[in-house]
Amino acid sequence: MRKVPVYYYSSVSNLTGRFAERLALTNARPVFNLADRAVRGREAEGPWVLLTPSYKAGNANQVTLPTPVRAFLRSPMNRRRLIGIIGSGNRNFGIHYQAAARELAQVSGRPVLFEFELSGTPEDVDRCVEILKRLDDAIAAAARDADALP
Ligand SMILES: Cc1cc2nc3c(=O)[nH]c(=O)nc-3n(C[C@H](O)[C@H](O)[C@H](O)COP(=O)(O)O)c2cc1C
Repeated sequence: MRKVPVYYYSSVSNLTGRFAERLALTNARPVFNLADRAVRGREAEGPWVLLTPSYKAGNANQVTLPTPVRAFLRSPMNRRRLIGIIGSGNRNFGIHYQAAARELAQVSGRPVLFEFELSGTPEDVDRCVEILKRLDDAIAAAARDADALP
């Protein structure tokens, strides 16, 4: 069964990256780093999930989505194939908590699948692995239903 790939961005502090690596290790989930120019220049081959931190607070022009994420989302195909968003944030940022994931969910109509702080706890990783597995199952079931259509 196809595993929905997770495309992520992480800054030099690499908190989101550590979470992504643990998703990959726990569940052999394909994860791709949007900091890599070759990765963000591609088109997703099918449904994909975004994992992004928020950098709203302290940002003069209040741009919430990291630039490499915006670059990847410039592709209409990538926008169409995005099926959900996972956010890494920090509750210390108050009303801006998870601003990037939540604002993108609002404009794209895609759900926030999971939110965690910093690099997440082992429990966060387990819960996120389960959510992504259920997503894999749902996509496989939808494909079977489509095949069964006359
Ligand atoms: C300058 C700065 C601004 C931030 N703004 C927000 C914010 O608006 N909302 C939020 O939830 N977290 C915010 N954070 C927290 C980061 O999103 C969080 O630490 C995240 O795990 C960082 O991931 P990374 O290390 O992969 O870049 C901010 C962090 C920094 C350093």
